[in-house]
Amino acid sequence: MTHILVTGGAGFIGTHVTTALLAAGHDVSVLDCGHPYAHAEPPGVPDGVRLHRADLRDRTAAGEALRGVDAVVHQAALVGLGSGPGDLPEYVGCNDLGTAVLLAAMSEAGVRRLVLASSMVVYGEGRYLCARHGPVRPAPREPGDLAAGRFEPGCPHCASPLTAGLVDEETPVDPRSVYAATKVAQEHLASAWQRESGAAVAALRYHNVYGPGMPRDTPYSGVAAIFRSALEAGRAPQVFEDGGQTRDFVHVGDVAAANVAALGVGRGFHPYNIASGRPTTVGEMAGLLADAFGGPRPRVTGRFRLGDVRHVVAAPDRAAAELGFRAGISPADGLREFACAPLRA
Ligand code: UD1
Repeated sequence: MTHILVTGGAGFIGTHVTTALLAAGHDVSVLDCGHPYAHAEPPGVPDGVRLHRADLRDRTAAGEALRGVDAVVHQAALVGLGSGPGDLPEYVGCNDLGTAVLLAAMSEAGVRRLVLASSMVVYGEGRYLCARHGPVRPAPREPGDLAAGRFEPGCPHCASPLTAGLVDEETPVDPRSVYAATKVAQEHLASAWQRESGAAVAALRYHNVYGPGMPRDTPYSGVAAIFRSALEAGRAPQVFEDGGQTRDFVHVGDVAAANVAALGVGRGFHPYNIASGRPTTVGEMAGLLADAFGGPRPRVTGRFRLGDVRHVVAAPDRAAAELGFRAGISPADGLREFACAPLRA
């Protein structure tokens, strides 16, 4: 039996990962501080799982939690856009200092296997093609363009319209928000650590995760939780921009299965897109949820957030080829179930 430590194992994704690891026959411990940005109530874990209620930045606690552990699945992080620049130190502290302390403690404890919860936000704007210039990387969108309803990024050379394509794992990272910057730093730290210690690291670049037990609407929630909370409160989901922005919504059960599969990677640093492989626009997703819930129709507001990217859609082939991971739940089915599934307090 393998003993796995799941950091953030009492959170939304961590809870599903913990359950999937138990079902796969692993022995599981959880390290979770119950961060107030993520938890309204003290964290809990399933029977048979040892909970270390501690902050990852506490090296002694991290060392204790790693005793007898064979591998770490690192989910603990602050996600989302947050409530402004005031959150910056807490994002960097939890996500990057926390990861650094974890890696140091892993070296000390001789643990050389890590699955890191990364994110598609590392790519920034996804992959775009210009008819004249081929593959291009659009600059961050200007507030003036967004305010005028020009939501599609243009070619950085000739400003012509672009065609959005699938991002693969070779796409250079280009973080566009604080959260994205902390996820890139986590990957770089894990990659450097792996080279020094001869470890095996899988970085799972989650696309937009949704599913039962998702937290309610907070500044740290993703769009699926925000729309779902609005419907529950009898309000119409507020769709930003023109609703044509594209994402890949992947069910949390599939994400948990990907984590279990990723424990088997060989030495080295291996990034994988974890996605459904079936892109959806935010407008379509809002419509699907509203229909399934039987709530008010979504309202397309034209509002925008500067930290948002327009399209980011994954090529899921590498995870399929190397991990044998394919999402089993389509967004159409999963979002229908999610529309009526319970959210977390
Ligand atoms: C999201 C998560 C990020 C996670 C990533 C991959 C947040 C804030 N972002 O990034 O943590 O790593 O997925 O899983 O949690 N929108 C609306 N109405 C709203 C809120 C958002 O239309 O009320 C739109 C946004 O403008 C954006 C899209 O929905 O275009 C997605 O928003 P969101 O889920 O917040 O951020 P992502 O960048 O997709």
